Amino acid sequence: MERTLLLVKPDGVQRGLVGTIIDKVERRGLRMVGVKLMSVSAHLAETHYAIHKGKPFYNGLIDYITSAPVVAIVWQGSKAVSVVRQVLGSTDPTEAQAGTVRGDYGIDIGRNLTHGSDSVKNGLTEINLWFKPDELIEWKRSGEEWVFEI
Ligand code: RTP
Ligand code: MG
Repeated sequence: MERTLLLVKPDGVQRGLVGTIIDKVERRGLRMVGVKLMSVSAHLAETHYAIHKGKPFYNGLIDYITSAPVVAIVWQGSKAVSVVRQVLGSTDPTEAQAGTVRGDYGIDIGRNLTHGSDSVKNGLTEINLWFKPDELIEWKRSGEEWVFEI
């Protein structure tokens, strides 16, 4: 089964949307295997967003993600990467569909509430960056056979 990293960015935490965002993914059927509230260091932010270094929005993005606590969550399940990105909606909230996190709660792309890994490979890299192995719990949610056709 896939794993993916979801970040509730500082605006999501400040606006009290942590529970709403977790609820959407949890009800969809994915299993939470790691979660923590954390302050993001400049080093962590720069490593996580290294691919965007040099882009016009890079400095603002680093300032944004380090401005207040974030909630980092690892989700596991069939198609976890694409399911989380579907729940979050398009990067630009004005293009995100209603019913998605960004489509319902966002307006500006630089305040788009969340991050979701964009591939299985990048998800594993990001999970290793944000979590220590002993912060991830192996468990099985009861009723998963009613979500996944295992
Ligand atoms: P994310 O990584 O946050 O899940 O979203 P994504 O893959 O859809 O977006 P990505 O291209 O990786 O961009 C990362 C974050 O940078 C900010 N951004 N601002 N002003 C801009 O044009 C712009 N473009 C991207 C957003 O906060 C985006 O989530
Ligand atoms: Mg991305």
